[in-house]
Amino acid sequence: MEKRKTFGGSLGFVLAAAGSAVGLGNIWRFPYLAARDGGGLFLVIYIILALTFGFTLVTAEIAIGRKTKQSPLTAYGKLNKNWTWLGWISSIVPFIILPYYCVIGGWVLKYLIAFLTGHGIDAAKEGYFTDFITSKGEPLIMMFIFLFAVTVVIYLGVNKGIESFSKVIMPVLLVLVVGIAIFSLTITKTDDAGVTRTGLQGLKYYVIPNLDGLTVKKFFNVVMDAMGQLFYSLSVAMGILIAYGSYVKDDANLPRSINQIEIFDTLVAFLAGVMIIPAVYVFSGTDGMASGPSLMFVALPKIFASMGKAGTIVGIIFFAMVLFAAITSAMSVLEAIVSGMIDSDKRFSRGKAVIIEFIVSLALACLVCFGYNDLYFELKLPNGAVGQILDVMDYVSNSILMPIGAIATCILVGWVIKPKVIIDEVEKSGDKMGRKRLFTVMIKYIAPVCLFVLLLMSLGIF
Ligand code: PHE
Repeated sequence: MEKRKTFGGSLGFVLAAAGSAVGLGNIWRFPYLAARDGGGLFLVIYIILALTFGFTLVTAEIAIGRKTKQSPLTAYGKLNKNWTWLGWISSIVPFIILPYYCVIGGWVLKYLIAFLTGHGIDAAKEGYFTDFITSKGEPLIMMFIFLFAVTVVIYLGVNKGIESFSKVIMPVLLVLVVGIAIFSLTITKTDDAGVTRTGLQGLKYYVIPNLDGLTVKKFFNVVMDAMGQLFYSLSVAMGILIAYGSYVKDDANLPRSINQIEIFDTLVAFLAGVMIIPAVYVFSGTDGMASGPSLMFVALPKIFASMGKAGTIVGIIFFAMVLFAAITSAMSVLEAIVSGMIDSDKRFSRGKAVIIEFIVSLALACLVCFGYNDLYFELKLPNGAVGQILDVMDYVSNSILMPIGAIATCILVGWVIKPKVIIDEVEKSGDKMGRKRLFTVMIKYIAPVCLFVLLLMSLGIF
């Protein structure tokens, strides 16, 4: 059998993992939650959770990957024979996520093309987004291009594909985010009533903690929002970090890489807020904040349109940046699946695994697209949201399977194989792991309990 590939260096690994972590969640959900949950208050809680809860989950998964040198499908079984089933959960999650993530990736591509071809103004018109996603041809074509591009990168493999691509794209992404963030701080506008709002006022609204009317219940909600966001943002419980961890060399400095991945992800999330909140504030005031598709595909194009000529350029840069963020995340999801197929009993070659998964995802992604026309339905989900096929897949993977997988991982590491196995793995290279006690307490007690509360909330029980 072919020897397992490894990332050429720490930088490649850090940028690939950060590429996975930085995705649509950072851009369309983090700023909204921060604006809604008291600005700086949310930011402080998020950072504290990233250094404790996030750090614990990321460390556990990367170390499991490096220790076992196995894909998510096979790694858990290698740690303990009775836990093979957890490998299946961790592999089903990316399998469900990939198709719908590619559909959204296709939407981003469509908007980028619209701005590039000078049709950015149309994108601001009422009904543009709905007309597009309910149409029959274009969403399919865009999804196909996106999925195809992701498949090519993964076909090229760990070094020529994932590592090389991430090393180019991630620095560019950072530059684009910083550029738009700075621009956003410079805008000002006077509305018809003569009120002038500036980007800097918007920044204050974002970063200064707003404790007005804070109650214990509200505080609890902010903590749970931050935790849910963090959990999704770090790409844990999707099998991804195990797959990427399995390609890290034994002598690499894991503690340092883990810190860098977390810093990168949190920095981009924070900057996405600097990019979006002041712009929304200047053009629509504090009530204008939206999240998810309606922020990205409806509210922001309107803002770009009201910026005149500059809006076209900002729109191009913005959607290019989002496309990069989405591609590197989708790559990691596909790799989590493909690595499992390669390591499974069937021992698929990379080429075969990639082609099979491409065909299956394509079929499922077509269904997701049809969910907005021929297969349209409205289903009320247990968490109160109403959705189509895409939302159902998102709900099952993110709100149900991911918390279950993460709770099980905590139990396996905390109580079955014991935290020391992970700590020893992290320190194998001779680099000291900080926060060891914290890691042990977190993984045994605090993280599983928090995740359980998160699960109950998603189920609408809490
Ligand atoms: N961390 C990603 C984000 O914030 C989540 C994600 C990763 C989703 C990989 C899908 C695939 O958007």
